[in-house]
Amino acid sequence: MRITVAGTGYVGLVTGVCLASKGHQVICLDVDEEKVKTMQQGISPIYEPGLSELMQESMENLTFTTDYAGAYKNAEVIFIGVGTPEKSDGSANLSFVYQVAKQIARTAENNCVVVVKSTVPIGTNDKIEQYIHDKQVHDCKIYVASNPEFLAQGTAVRDTLHASRIVIGTDEKYAADILMQVYEKFDAPKITVGRRSAEMIKYASNDFLALKISYVNEIANLCETVGANVEEVTLGMGFDKRIGDYFLNAGIGYGGSCFPKDTKALSWLASFNDKEIRTVKAAIEVNDSQKLKLIKKARKYYDDFLFLNIAVLGCTFKPGTDDLREAPSLVNVPLLLEDGARVRIWDPVGTENFKKQVPNEKIQYCGSIEEAITDADICFIFTEWKDVCDFDVTKYQKLMKRPIVLDGRNCYALDQFEGTGITYGSIGRKTINDTEE
Ligand SMILES: NC(=O)c1ccc[n+]([C@@H]2O[C@H](COP(=O)([O-])OP(=O)(O)OC[C@H]3O[C@@H](n4cnc5c(N)ncnc54)[C@H](O)[C@@H]3O)[C@@H](O)[C@H]2O)c1
Repeated sequence: MRITVAGTGYVGLVTGVCLASKGHQVICLDVDEEKVKTMQQGISPIYEPGLSELMQESMENLTFTTDYAGAYKNAEVIFIGVGTPEKSDGSANLSFVYQVAKQIARTAENNCVVVVKSTVPIGTNDKIEQYIHDKQVHDCKIYVASNPEFLAQGTAVRDTLHASRIVIGTDEKYAADILMQVYEKFDAPKITVGRRSAEMIKYASNDFLALKISYVNEIANLCETVGANVEEVTLGMGFDKRIGDYFLNAGIGYGGSCFPKDTKALSWLASFNDKEIRTVKAAIEVNDSQKLKLIKKARKYYDDFLFLNIAVLGCTFKPGTDDLREAPSLVNVPLLLEDGARVRIWDPVGTENFKKQVPNEKIQYCGSIEEAITDADICFIFTEWKDVCDFDVTKYQKLMKRPIVLDGRNCYALDQFEGTGITYGSIGRKTINDTEE
C-alpha cells in the first residue's frame, strides 16, 4: 500500500521502517530538513537498537521528504506520528497534530485513512475528522482512525514488529479493513474498538504502568525504613499472576516522553471534566519526589557539593535510547552544578543530547566509566546501562577519592559490596558500609 508517515521521531520513523520492511511503499515526512537529509543517506537520526539495520534493508521501499503536498497527495493511508508534548498546564499540545491535519485537508486527493498514532486526549480523533472535513479542498473521502502506539524506546523495533496488541479505533468498516491490510503481516493480536475507547486505552495503559512504578517506589522507600529488601518483596509479589512480575523494579522514578506527560494529560482531562483521578495524581507526586531520592541520600555524606568531583553514570531516561526527555539526570545534574560541584558524566549514547540541554562548562564528558569515577567524591547512577551493571565494582574503591556509590537503578547485588570499603546506597535496600562524615 502507499503509506505516508508524518513525523519521523521514535514512533514515526520506527513505524515507517517496520511498514516498509513488510513490503509497503512508505514516505516518511518531517519538517526537520537536517533529519530528512540524514535519513536520505540511510542513517537513522535516533538511536534505537536494530533500527538502522532494518532501515538499510528496507531502503527500496522508503522515501524521506519534507514535501508534505507530494507526500499526502496520493497516499492510501497517512499515519500521524508527530509529538504531543505537555503544555504548561499539563494538557497535551495538539498544535503539531492539527498542522498535519490542515496540510492533509489541503493536499490529499485520494480516498484515504488518516491514522492517528500520536497520543491524543479522548475525543481528539472526532475533532480532527471534523476539522479535516471542514477544510478539505479535494473531492475525496477521508476517514480518521485511532491507532495508539505502545512501543517502548530501547525495544521499539521489536515492540512494533511483534506488538503486544494492535488497537484499531474506528466505527467505519472501510477504515478497519484498510488497517487490517496494513497490519496483515504483523505478528500481533488485533482488536477493533470505538475511537474514543482506543484513545482511552493508550492513556489508561500508560498511566497504569506509571502507577505501578510509583507504587513500587513507595513500597521501596518504606522497605528502607522498616528494614525489608524491595527486591525480595517484589520477587514474592511477582509470582501472583494478578500482579505480574513486570514493572516492579524500584528506582529513582520514571522519565521519558510518555509516562510523565500522559499522566499529567489524563489528570488535566479529568479535572477539565470536573472529575479527579486521584490515583494518577498520586503517581505523579510520588515520581516527582522520587527523582530527588539520591541527592537526599547524598546529603547524609556531604552538607553541600561545593568543589566536589561528582561522577554521573548514565543520563538517558533508560538504557537503549539516547532520549533524555524527563530523565532524572536533567533534574539532578543542574542541582549539583548549582551547588558548585564539578560533574563528570559517562553515558554511551546520551551525552550529545545532554550537552544541548544542559550547556555548562563545569560538566566534563567521559569516554569510560573509569574516567568518570577517577578521583570522584561520590558517584550517582541514573541509568542501568549494561556497562554499568557489568562493571567490576572493586574499581570504585581503587579509583574514587571517596568510594560512595548511590545507585538509582539497583544495578548491583548487595553482596558485591559486602567486605569492601565502598559505601553503596540503592533504592529500597539497606545501605552497605554506611558511613557519615
Ligand atoms: N516515544 C515513545 O516511546 C512513544 C511511545 C508511544 C506513543 N508515543 C506518542 O507518539 C507521538 C510521537 O512521539 P515521538 O516520541 O515519536 O515524538 P518525537 O518528538 O520524537 O518526533 C516527532 C517528529 O514529528 C516531526 N514533526 C512535527 N511537526 C510535523 C509536521 N507538521 N509534519 C511532519 N513532521 C512533523 C518533528 O520534527 C519530529 O521529528 C507522541 O504523541 C507520543 O506521545 C511515543
